[in-house]
Amino acid sequence: MNSKFISIEGIEGAGKSTQLAFIQQYLQQQGINVVVTREPGGTELGEQIRTLLLTPREEGMSDNAELLLMFAARAEHVNQVIRPALERGDWVLCDRFVDATFAYQGGGRGIDSSRIEQIANWTLNGLQTDLTFLFDLPVEVGQQRVNARQGDNDRFEQEKTAFFQRIRECYLQRAQSEPNRLKVIDSNQSIEQIQLQLKSILATMLA
Ligand code: TMP
Repeated sequence: MNSKFISIEGIEGAGKSTQLAFIQQYLQQQGINVVVTREPGGTELGEQIRTLLLTPREEGMSDNAELLLMFAARAEHVNQVIRPALERGDWVLCDRFVDATFAYQGGGRGIDSSRIEQIANWTLNGLQTDLTFLFDLPVEVGQQRVNARQGDNDRFEQEKTAFFQRIRECYLQRAQSEPNRLKVIDSNQSIEQIQLQLKSILATMLA
């Protein structure tokens, strides 16, 4: 079977981790070799860049530095992990990919999407996911879930509601313009309902 590249996206608190584990298990049950990875991260260098990006900094970080660090981590990840896996015939299941940059650095920070597109064209060489699940829920619900977790909030989680509203809107707009690739999953449903929907979409892909 041809390899496939799947990513999952959503604002903080959308329940990505639980669903990532479910998708991985479902695909493995179908006899598929799945490489599970994440962004920013997925390589040694990428994980170091992730720490730089997520650790709160008193002096802040410019929007352009944030954007370029996301792509630096991604360039390494694509080269070392994603392309080799797809070339072997494995499937890749990635916790966030380039849609997150359009949503967070584009929608959230306000960087022009044409600029992000240019860097994506240059560094990804046409690579895009075959399928992306967008776990969607109202920002306030996501924030309540994040605040209920133990531990300190990272540099993104410390942002205000309006930042996440812009991100959510940007994700939803992308889903509207690419409905075949980006599937919106309502995260406000029960886990069972969500998983039925995931299974049905994955089954179509496997058919
Ligand atoms: P995570 O908490 O889902 O692992 O993601 C880490 C954070 O990085 C999350 O707040 C979203 C953010 N992010 C971006 O801002 N742009 C990107 O391109 C990616 C991949 C993540």
